[in-house]
Amino acid sequence: MYKCKFILILFLISFPFFSYSNDGATGIVKERMDKFQESKNLMRTINKSLSDNNFDIIRQSAEKLNKWAIEMHKYFPKGSEANISNKSQAGDNIWSDPDGFKKAVKKFEITSATLIKISQNKNIDDTVSSFRELAASCKGCHKQFRN
Ligand code: HEC
Repeated sequence: MYKCKFILILFLISFPFFSYSNDGATGIVKERMDKFQESKNLMRTINKSLSDNNFDIIRQSAEKLNKWAIEMHKYFPKGSEANISNKSQAGDNIWSDPDGFKKAVKKFEITSATLIKISQNKNIDDTVSSFRELAASCKGCHKQFRN
């Protein structure tokens, strides 16, 4: 009996995706959802760091977001459109208007790169307005390309 449990636990550890298949998303759709959840957490971290004047954390978080911006297009391959079982909120226009989507991704890339740069001047007002522009790039894309 104990042996059985041990093997089951080992099995679950080696296949961690089984533990969160409850939301229906798997594969690349699940991966991009996780990336976006991480983005949300990074934005919260930056927001908190603005009140702490912690410019190093702001820069590091902006660097992670910029890295994600650069690779984001790889997470929306053809065939990963929203359907009933994958719970994706991706708009169909991501694939029908690829140039528009590219532009929205680029805006995110540019605003995150700007925050990396601006945060190094350690001027709180400039950093706050740069952060607001970054947040606007998230919202702008969601308005257009998220259901
Ligand atoms: C270029 C477009 C684009 C940009 C920029 C963008 N998002 Fe999204 N976001 C999406 C799309 C599309 C989805 C839906 C993905 C899916 O469900 O397949 C999404 C989903 C999400 C989700 C829900 C994830 C889940 O678990 O279902 C969160 C949270 C999120 N984005 C936060 C952010 C934040 C924060 C930023 C900015 C730092 C951001 N996004 C920038 C397009 C974008």
